[in-house]
Amino acid sequence: MCGIVGYIGQRQASSILVEGLSKLEYRGYDSAGVAIINESNNIDVKKCKGRLANLEEQLNENPIEGMIGIGHTRWATHGEPSDVNSHPHSNEKQTISVVHNGIIENYIELREWLIKEGYTFKSETDTEVVPHLVDYYYNGNLLEAVMKTVKKLEGSYALGVVTSEESDKVVAVRKDSPLIVGLGEGESFIASDIPAVLNHTRDVYLLEDNEFVLMDKNGVSLFDTEGNKIEKEVFHVTWDAAAAEKGGFDHFMIKEIYEQPKAIRDTMTSRIVKNESIKLDDITITKEQIKNIDKIYIVACGTAYHAGIVGKYAIEKLTRIPVEIEVASEFRYRDPIINEKTLMIVISQSGETADTLAALREAKRQNARVIAVTNVVGSSVSREADDVLYTWAGPEIAVASTKAYETQLIAMYIIALFFAENKETLSEEEIEDIKEEMLALPEKVEKVLEGKEKIKEFAANICNNKNMFLLGRGLDYAVALEGALKIKEVSYIHSDAYAAGELKHGPIALIEDGTVVIALSTQERLFEKMVSNVKEVTTRGANVFGIAMEGHTEIEKTVNESYYIPRTIEVLAPILSVVPMQLMSYYTAIEKGCDVDKPRNLAKSVTVE
Ligand code: G6P
Repeated sequence: MCGIVGYIGQRQASSILVEGLSKLEYRGYDSAGVAIINESNNIDVKKCKGRLANLEEQLNENPIEGMIGIGHTRWATHGEPSDVNSHPHSNEKQTISVVHNGIIENYIELREWLIKEGYTFKSETDTEVVPHLVDYYYNGNLLEAVMKTVKKLEGSYALGVVTSEESDKVVAVRKDSPLIVGLGEGESFIASDIPAVLNHTRDVYLLEDNEFVLMDKNGVSLFDTEGNKIEKEVFHVTWDAAAAEKGGFDHFMIKEIYEQPKAIRDTMTSRIVKNESIKLDDITITKEQIKNIDKIYIVACGTAYHAGIVGKYAIEKLTRIPVEIEVASEFRYRDPIINEKTLMIVISQSGETADTLAALREAKRQNARVIAVTNVVGSSVSREADDVLYTWAGPEIAVASTKAYETQLIAMYIIALFFAENKETLSEEEIEDIKEEMLALPEKVEKVLEGKEKIKEFAANICNNKNMFLLGRGLDYAVALEGALKIKEVSYIHSDAYAAGELKHGPIALIEDGTVVIALSTQERLFEKMVSNVKEVTTRGANVFGIAMEGHTEIEKTVNESYYIPRTIEVLAPILSVVPMQLMSYYTAIEKGCDVDKPRNLAKSVTVE
């Protein structure tokens, strides 16, 4: 979480840093700040609590002139969101300033030691030890001082550091937090993520852990921990900067919901082709290795975890390989049973989620093979896994994930089909039938989107409710979990998903007159059972919004509002049934006046534990 940027060049740093931070606000928005080396060679720091707009206002009132600087947008971990806890943090003389993304785990010990050495602290943050340590080690060479400093640090960090003593340099380093370097014409950038530099350059270095960056008037030099110069391939970004803009939509979230048909199509392109076997150029696992797998773990967090639940159903159904699905924060500390016959699939939109990355490392340590499903080329999980299957959703900016989820589902189906083909658990005809249905999905999602007015109306009626329940069986339950998460995240309504069969074992006690229930009934085999569960709640006064496949008009007799998705095979239904859930959460949030793209307390990329 948190986003960092840095700039050195011939232009005014202030506006470039702020513009970069605006592309990183999805990573956190509790406070923002910049440190710029001004024309008198002093460091000028401006930082304040709240959104970036507050900082921008302050900078408009009191501009800072200078062509070198660093900036930060914060998601608070250590210390409440406040002006003083905002980054950049500086040493006492304000000759050294630091921005940090990550957590310094041994900061208490370092802080106590630094206090004994005579340093005083202003903030409650873990980060503040860094400028003091750099100060302690500084002996006329910033790069060397930062190298010595990070040897003392435990935890995760992407750091950007400037000093007025060497006012022509920016030094940066990463470990377990993302960092890229932008290579411009006579100017260079650091940033936590590519969109922050994309208006200035498409050539970047994707840094690995423990790589140091020195940016000065000669350009960019990279070093290892011993101070040896290293060479790195330049990564040329091919995607369009406009993909990370709102493009006429009111919010990123609704834009991204509407981008889903394209994202699904792009993720299937060249992989799912009629009458051709599934081609996964990016995956090197052999037929023999697939046949050898006796267990699959799918591990992920948040929305990606929900995509994994659908993945479990699909893989087990199509390949008959047992699959366990688990949230990464539990998996990593559980001592799971893993061996060389275990395959792990990690799913992560950003490819940087700390718990997911730790779970991946644990599986690799125990000799499991790991496939990463991620949306970010060059991300940490993509680099550390044995194989990568990219989801081609394009940049997802809204904190609540929508199009990434859809493409993660597609990736799960692709993997399931690929394994089914290799293990011959399905006939060629069966595989062709599923592929044909998959290829029709983008158009069907478009059709679901056409019904948005009905959802908007229902959202307007229920937006003041305090609670909401989502029910489903089988894959509908998996989608209900994702729907409940979306509603919580963006509209702040307490929403819970239940496996409809469990209703009688407790949750039904919560149903009373007017309780809002969304009932997902897209699974043909389970339809009648769902209808019975819906009756159980309507007879107790619930206000039910039912979702079923076209043709299942019987649902209308039991629910208050019904919504139909185009017909498809059961296993693919989540791709369609999640869309009304996404729209429901969006429109409920809009009705309530919530900040849909930046919900309170959340961040898009959770790079801390
Ligand atoms: C955060 C985001 C969620 C996301 C989750 C996992 O909680 O707010 O939208 O699903 O992290 O992120 P990942 O990048 O690993 O998919």
